[in-house]
Amino acid sequence: PPLESVFNLNEFEVIASKILPEKVYAYYACSADDEVSYRQNHHSYQKIYFRPKILVDVTDIDLTTEMFGRKFKFPFYVSATALCGLGNPEGGEVSIVKACAHEEFCIPQMISTFSSNSLEDIVAAKSNSAQEQWFQLYVNGDRTITKDLILKAEKLGVNALFVTVDAAQPGNRERDLRFKFSNSDKKKGPNVMKQGQTANGTSGALSKLIDTALTWKDIENFKIYTNLPIVLKGVQRVDDIIKAAEIGCSGVVLSNHGGRQLDFSVPPVEVLAEAMPTLRSRGLDKNFNVFIDGGIRRGTDVLKALCLGATGVGIASPFLYANSLYGTEGVEKAFDLLVKELILSMRLLGVTDISQLNPDLLDLRGLYDR
Ligand code: FNR
Repeated sequence: PPLESVFNLNEFEVIASKILPEKVYAYYACSADDEVSYRQNHHSYQKIYFRPKILVDVTDIDLTTEMFGRKFKFPFYVSATALCGLGNPEGGEVSIVKACAHEEFCIPQMISTFSSNSLEDIVAAKSNSAQEQWFQLYVNGDRTITKDLILKAEKLGVNALFVTVDAAQPGNRERDLRFKFSNSDKKKGPNVMKQGQTANGTSGALSKLIDTALTWKDIENFKIYTNLPIVLKGVQRVDDIIKAAEIGCSGVVLSNHGGRQLDFSVPPVEVLAEAMPTLRSRGLDKNFNVFIDGGIRRGTDVLKALCLGATGVGIASPFLYANSLYGTEGVEKAFDLLVKELILSMRLLGVTDISQLNPDLLDLRGLYDR
C-alpha cells in the first residue's frame, strides 16, 4: 500500500504482518510466552486519562526536550532493534540514520550491538552533526570483546552507552523459535556474528553472544575506561533505579524489552508512575535521565509518559516496520505522524511547552486495575 494510506504508527505493523517474509515478521513481532506483558505495555497507557486545561493560547507549541542535559527537537528517540537488515536488506540501519539525521527531525538513534550494518557504516551515514547516536551494548562473555566495542563506539563519536540489562537470556519467544536461523541469515545478520551460528529462532542465535553473568560490578568497571554517559536499559524496579544513580549511571530506561523477555513483567508506565514520587524526593527527577519504552504508539502515549516525569521516550518496532516496508521515507513518515499527533494533543490538553507537562494533567485512577 502507498505510504499516503498510513495514518498512524500501528498501521506499519499491520502492513508488515501481511508483507514481510513470515520468518522475519516472526522475529520482529515475537514476544515472550503468552505475550501478556507485550499487550499490557500498550494497554496500560489506555488506562490513563487526561484532565485538559481550557482557554489557553495554544497557537505555538514547543516540543524541545532536554535529555542528558542537552536540547533536542522532540521528546522521543528510535530505540535499538537488532537486525534491521532482515526486513530491509539494502538499507538496514543506515536508512534509519538518514531519516533521523534529516534536519527537520534530528532524532536520536540507538544502535543495537546486533546491527546488520557495521557500526562504522552506521556512524558514517550520519549527515547532520546535530543528530545524536547512542550505542546499545550487549555484554559478551569475553569482556575484552566488550571493552573493545565500547572503546570503538566512543572513538567513533557516539554520544551515550545504553547497556541492556534485562536480557541475560532471550525470553521464550515461540513465534520465533518455529523458524531456524540459518547460515544464510547470518549474511544479513549482525556484524559481530563471526562464527557459524545456527539455532532455533533468531533470538537463540544471538543469545550466544550475551553473557548470563553480567552484574553491577561490570557496570562499575565500564566506567573506569569510558567517559560515555552510561544508561541501564531494562530497569524494572524503583530500588534498581536508585542503585543505578548511586553507582554513577546517567540514567535508566524503564523497559521490559517490549515484553520480549520475562512475561508478566510490569508494564514500564506503571513502574514510572510508582517510581516518580520517590525519584522526585531524592532529586533524581532533575539531573538523572529516566527514559521509558514499550508500547508507545501515539502522541498521547508520549505525553502521558512525560506528564509522569519521563525525560524522553523510546519507540522501536513501529520504526523498524516503517523501515522494512518503505525505507528512509517510511521512517520519516512515522516521525512526521508522531510529531503531528504530539502538537495536536498538546493543543487539546492546553499546554504549549514540554516542561508544562505534569501529573496533575492525568487521571491515574484506572492505572492499577488489571
Ligand atoms: C528489540 N529490542 C532491543 N533492545 C536492545 O536493547 N537491543 C536489541 O538489539 C534489541 N533488538 C530488538 C529487536 C526487535 C525486533 C524488537 C521489536 C525489539 C527492544 C527495543 O529496544 C525496545 O526496548 C522494545 O521493543 C520496546 O519498544 P516498542 O517496540 O514497544 O516501541
